[in-house]
Amino acid sequence: MLLPKFVRMVEVGPRDGLQNEKSMVPTAVKVELVNRLSDAGLGVVEAASFVSPKWVPQMGDSAVVLAGIARKPGVRYAALTPNLKGLEGALAAKADEVAVFGAASESFSQKNINCSIAESLDRFAPVMEQAKAAGVPVRGYVSCVLGCPYEGEIAPQAVAEVAERLFAMGCYEISLGDTIGTGTPTRAQVMIAAVAERVPVEKIAVHFHDTYGQALANILAALQMGVAVVDSSVAGLGGCPYAKGASGNVASEDVLYMLNGLGIETGVDLDRLVAAGAFISDAIGRPTASKVARARGCA
Ligand code: HMG
Ligand code: MG
Repeated sequence: MLLPKFVRMVEVGPRDGLQNEKSMVPTAVKVELVNRLSDAGLGVVEAASFVSPKWVPQMGDSAVVLAGIARKPGVRYAALTPNLKGLEGALAAKADEVAVFGAASESFSQKNINCSIAESLDRFAPVMEQAKAAGVPVRGYVSCVLGCPYEGEIAPQAVAEVAERLFAMGCYEISLGDTIGTGTPTRAQVMIAAVAERVPVEKIAVHFHDTYGQALANILAALQMGVAVVDSSVAGLGGCPYAKGASGNVASEDVLYMLNGLGIETGVDLDRLVAAGAFISDAIGRPTASKVARARGCA
């Protein structure tokens, strides 16, 4: 089995996870979580989201979070930026990298960012330009790559189209989001193969939500295709406020346990990661969604 030797784990819990919490998580808790995650050895922590606070009030304190964290050398603290206003906020707060987020489904694009796919790409263009001028790398997300809450199955070619456009605009990496977690391994491979015809496979990341319990299987299928960047969320936090029923991202602890077992390096320490997951689960009063954390005694 051909597998990468090193996988870069992109931790999205403080953003994708906490954006979906019903209650407001105190800023100090978010800061502590981000610090614990960087201390666990994660090289990229998506810590903030400069979106409309009317749409996602949970992320309204993003600038304060980025101002409060203890920045660890070598760690990149990332933020979502749907438009120029978001980029301005992220640059002022000194995000190390930003991300634009599009979708492979028209209906989801409308519900999530209030515009069509074509309009979203037009909006991203000036974001790309100004981020480039500021020397800040931009990641590109494509949502609904294996299914849409409004349209059902999504054609791999539709995903490839948007991925190619984002890459051509200058995104350094394209993260393929199974927003509602309906994908299964063969479909994931067919979709990744379609994208890889247009975007080099080393520029592809995968972002699986675990709604149907398929995420680890899908990640393994992606690794077999040469993908070596995996998004995950500590304690399996998360969901998407504009995708009803979407549960959390795959738990970072479970991904790391699998990668360790496969002999793949990550630079991340499992004990510290489990402790970070226990911290946030405790703080928000929810049981962890990580099986590894539960097996190791976390509530
Ligand atoms: P809109 O209403 O069309 O925007 O929303 P607008 O430009 O007409 O502005 C309306 C108001 O929002 C104005 O304020 C703007 O100033 C303000 P008002 O005059 O009414 O007081 N505004 C902003 N405020 C702060 N930051 C900004 C910003 N932009 C406008 N950046 C918009 C368009 C994109 C802003 C809105 O739809 C939005 O914020 N959507 C975000 C939705 C979101 O965050 N979803 C979750 C993240 S995506 C995800 O989770 C998927 C992912 O994980 C991958 C996967 O799993 O598939 C990435
Ligand atoms: Mg997501």
